[in-house]
Amino acid sequence: MRESYLDDFFTFLRFPSVSTDDAYKDRLAECAHWLVEKLKGIGLETQLVPTAGHPVVWAKNKHEPGRRTVMIYGHYDVQPPDPLDLWESPPFDPVLKNGYVFARGATDNKGQILSHILGISETLAESGELPVNLHLIIEGEEEIGSGNLPGFLRQHRESLGCDVVVVSDTGMIARGVPTLSYGLRGVTACEVRVTGSKMDLHSGVFGGAVANSVTALARLLATLHDGNGHVAIEGFYEEVKPLEDWEREAWRKLPIDADQELLQETGVPALFGEKGFSTFERLWARPTAEINGIGGGYQGPGTKTVIASHAMAKLTFRLVPNQDGDRILKLAHRHLEKHLPPGVTMEIIDGHSGPWYLTDPHSRFGEAAQTALQGAFGKKVALIREGGSIPIVSQFRDILGVETLLLGLALQDCRAHSPNENFPLENLENGIRMNKAVLREIGTGSR
Ligand code: BES
Ligand code: MN
Repeated sequence: MRESYLDDFFTFLRFPSVSTDDAYKDRLAECAHWLVEKLKGIGLETQLVPTAGHPVVWAKNKHEPGRRTVMIYGHYDVQPPDPLDLWESPPFDPVLKNGYVFARGATDNKGQILSHILGISETLAESGELPVNLHLIIEGEEEIGSGNLPGFLRQHRESLGCDVVVVSDTGMIARGVPTLSYGLRGVTACEVRVTGSKMDLHSGVFGGAVANSVTALARLLATLHDGNGHVAIEGFYEEVKPLEDWEREAWRKLPIDADQELLQETGVPALFGEKGFSTFERLWARPTAEINGIGGGYQGPGTKTVIASHAMAKLTFRLVPNQDGDRILKLAHRHLEKHLPPGVTMEIIDGHSGPWYLTDPHSRFGEAAQTALQGAFGKKVALIREGGSIPIVSQFRDILGVETLLLGLALQDCRAHSPNENFPLENLENGIRMNKAVLREIGTGSR
């Protein structure tokens, strides 16, 4: 691999483009500017489009009539790097170790984006043009729900007309196994704030006479599930589309021992989840309720005998076909209000949300993608769904009327959203080959 590719990768990774934290706003803009220059440099007409949040990078080649139009989408924003003390090297100071590049965003989604950019650049250098009309859209708000991207799509709907979208922000079922994902879970978020007394109180003077907000919150959150991992919110599963037999059967035959892999990667003493479903079924086709963070009371060294005035928890729900995010949030509100213990008040603040996605891997473009993947990796393609979410994908269908091909390059052990996130250079190389093959396959034949 060319040395300059690694330089590009490291430069891209050094921008701490953490979208959820306003303190990084200028760093995101700098990252976007760098992308604009990079894309202009490889010969694409590129602009930076401001939004109410972080800017969108939009690049295109010279469009010719009679060619298919492809939109490649990805994101330059990343998740927060904390907890920092668990990183073996600083999150925004990339290092190469045994063929893996370690940094926040290495796999999600900068390595994958770079493989597209380099694939495009190699194709342009080799043949002077691309086999398709291309739009490359790289946004800065995916990790916070893509709130401003639907507006961008609507505003430029005519100019953004395309035949299909290509996204590599998903995973591979196993190292070296090319993977086409035909489904994503959706996600919807809220924050629960519980308040008891108007300030922290002496737990000896007041303990026994007033409610403790942390105790109340703990009891409340404990009502979200039953002992079998089933979500206990009334009506939560009502709209869930049952899995079809063919899909269960196909997932059973995937070339990977999911339970073994997960045990090893996560370090848990045993897997846990809803009874009656296999691990892949629980991950890809069942909804969940998760507590992402919790806080309240004294957290410093030693002890402090207080009754906590405030407690909070951040929740997200993963959604599957045919659940509706707004409805699930309503049911969650109702559940939390119904089970709130006495002696405290509660406020619920709704967060971002994004719908699930399900498409046909055997559509015309799905087959083209499979041919390209098989060619680039020299192996049979695995067809899977994903547990993660990419909120804008369902909007590509709703606003632009097109389907999305999910051709991911992340591995289970790439540690997306975790400390020591990494991306194998092997996948950068495979990704470059994949990008070239996909554009070639989609471009083949006239419309
Ligand atoms: N790349 C992930 C989504 C993903 C990961 C899909 C693995 C399939 C397999 C994406 O960047 C992501 O993490 N999205 C967030 C969206 C949310 C914050 C709105 C997610 O899924 O938590
Ligand atoms: Mn991502």
